Amino acid sequence: MTVTVSRSASARSPIGVFDSGIGGLTVVRALMERLPFEDIIYFGDTARVPYGVKSVDTIQSFTTQIADFLMARDVKLLIIACNTMAAVAGEAVRQRANVPVLDVIDAGARAAVDISRKGIGVIGTPTTINSNAYARSIHALSPGVHVHSQACPLFVPLVEEGWLDHEVTRLTAREYLKPVFVEQIDALVLGCTHYPLLKPLLQDVAGPGIKLVDSAITIAEQTAQVLAEMGLHNPQRGEPRYDYVVTDIPLRFQTIGSRFLGREFKHVEQVRW
Ligand code: DGL
Repeated sequence: MTVTVSRSASARSPIGVFDSGIGGLTVVRALMERLPFEDIIYFGDTARVPYGVKSVDTIQSFTTQIADFLMARDVKLLIIACNTMAAVAGEAVRQRANVPVLDVIDAGARAAVDISRKGIGVIGTPTTINSNAYARSIHALSPGVHVHSQACPLFVPLVEEGWLDHEVTRLTAREYLKPVFVEQIDALVLGCTHYPLLKPLLQDVAGPGIKLVDSAITIAEQTAQVLAEMGLHNPQRGEPRYDYVVTDIPLRFQTIGSRFLGREFKHVEQVRW
């Protein structure tokens, strides 16, 4: 990876993680576990979520605005923790970034190719699935593999509602996944950062022969690798600082977000655009 690190960013700088809302906190959680000494600044565009049903132009303009905001905060690495943003605006972010950029689609594709022997199912928002970004990434790694994609637009609102183990969610999952399960697949990529919260339910619906691929864990591993390669691990071993920036009032973010993160938030700031 050839990148120029921002002049002001250093090993002590935070990792910048961003998403259209709260879903990317599943990535933050994996990072906290894998890299317990790294500071993290998380940006959730809670005022403009959902992105998954918006046009490519709009998503690109919102996404680059957030990337610029985080680079101005001197992050040492950027993680696009939203599949929809990564699918249609990943390239635009990489073109302007002065720090390494990782994204959940690349991570999910790698993890799926590693574990699949038969075929790969991918579920995500309509924008992610229509972009074909997963199929492209998977085929770049393994050209012959069969990829079966399915948009699941109702999953995001169901997760936001907290219906993680609800009959309505179970029926919805069965309906969406019916055409995918007709195909020969042994891996199912959770191609949206909200979906890891549905893991127990989805595993139940999928059955034991299908492995669920959660890119959060893979991206935390990739982050550790990139930091090591670039000598950017935080040398300090104290309590890390976690900052959260949102665009809507923080209350809902704090309430639902603590479910994603499994802990309470301390530093939440609102920016108005
Ligand atoms: N975070 C988005 C993703 O991973 C889903 C939510 C949205 O539609 O904005 O695709």
